[in-house]
Amino acid sequence: MRRLSTFFSSPLSICVALGVSAFVTLAMAGLLARAVANEAVTSQYKATSDVRGEGRGDVRGEVNVYSYRQPFLVEPLFEKFTAQTGIEVRVIFAKKGLIERVKTEGKRSPADVILTVDIGRLHAARDVAQAVTLPVLQRHIPAVARGADNKWFGLTWRARVAYVSKARVSERTLRFEDLAKPAYRGRVCLRSGQHPYNIALFAAMLDHLGEGEFKHWLGGLKANLAGSPSGNDRAQVRKVYGGACDIAIGNTYYMGKMQTNEKKPEQQAWADAVRIVFPDMPRGGAHMNLSGMAMAKHAPNRANAEKLMAFLVSEEAQKIYAEVNFEYPIRADIEPSARVKSWGAFTPDTLALDRIAALRARASEIVDEVSFNSGP
Ligand SMILES: [Fe+2]
Repeated sequence: MRRLSTFFSSPLSICVALGVSAFVTLAMAGLLARAVANEAVTSQYKATSDVRGEGRGDVRGEVNVYSYRQPFLVEPLFEKFTAQTGIEVRVIFAKKGLIERVKTEGKRSPADVILTVDIGRLHAARDVAQAVTLPVLQRHIPAVARGADNKWFGLTWRARVAYVSKARVSERTLRFEDLAKPAYRGRVCLRSGQHPYNIALFAAMLDHLGEGEFKHWLGGLKANLAGSPSGNDRAQVRKVYGGACDIAIGNTYYMGKMQTNEKKPEQQAWADAVRIVFPDMPRGGAHMNLSGMAMAKHAPNRANAEKLMAFLVSEEAQKIYAEVNFEYPIRADIEPSARVKSWGAFTPDTLALDRIAALRARASEIVDEVSFNSGP
C-alpha cells in the first residue's frame, strides 16, 4: 500500500502530490494547502506520477482511496487485498475535507473509493459518488445498511449505547425514553448535541417519536444532563469514572479502545468503572450507526474499485474490522470479536439508515430550538 500524498504538520509545509504534469501538481498543491489544516499528520512523502490525466483506467493495477478511516485500521485490509489481487492501493488519509476535495477536483479526481464513518458523512459522499450494483454487495450488506440509490454501502456497525457506572447504576436494561425521566436528573453526560453521532441518534428518535414527542424528550434529556455538553465520547466515560455523572452516551468501539489503551492506561480505569447497556429505541432495539464506502463519480479505476469494495465485505476483511477496531461486522454471518461479544447481546433497531439521514437536518434544527448545548 502506498500513500497518495503527504500529510502536513503545519500549513506552511510544502505539499506536492499527484499529477502527470507540473501544472497539475502545482494546482493540486494550492488546493492541498487550503485543506492542510484539516488533514491528519500521517506519513512520509511518496511521489506518484501515474494516477491522473491521460490513460486513466485500471491499466496499472491500482486503486485510489480517500479515507477518513485511520491507517492502523485500513492498512491491514489493503495489504491483504494487494496480496490477493496484485492491485496496489494508494491512500489519502484525512480527518476532514475529503468529500469537498473530490468535488473540487471534479472530473480529474483520482479518487476511486471513499471510506468514511457515520451516516451523515456517507450521505454527504453521495454528492460525489456513483451507483454501484454489485451482487456481492447486495448479498452481504442488509438493505437498511446501504443506500436505496446504491451510492453508499455500510461496512461495519456500531451501536450508540449507555456507559453506566458499575457502582451507581443498577439497571441492566434501559430505553432511550428513560434518559429523559426525572429519575436521571443531573446524571447524564453527552457530547455536543450537534455531533454527527448524536444527530443520527436524535434523527432516529425523531422518526420513532414524531416531532412533538421528540422535542419533549430532547428537552427532558437536556434537563438531565450533568453539565453543558463538551468533550468526545471517551471524555463522557471519564466523567462517569470521576463521579460527575452516572450514565454516558457513546459508541461501542470506544469501550474496546479504552480497555486496550496501552499509551493512555488511565483509560483502562475509565472503562473499568462502567458497563455497557444497550438502550432500546421507542419502537425497536439499539440505535445503530455505521462506517461505509462509496465509489467516486469519476473513479478512474472503476473495475479495481469494484474489486476492493467486494473485498471489504469478504469474510477476511470483515474479521479484520471486527478484531482491529471492535466494530460489528455488517455481515450477519460473521461474528463480532470475543471482546465485543463480552459487552453483551442486543437487538438492533431496524430503521433504515437512509431514513435517519433524511431526518438529520430537522433533528439538528430541533437541537438548537431547545438550546440543547447550553445544558441543563
Ligand atoms: Fe468515533
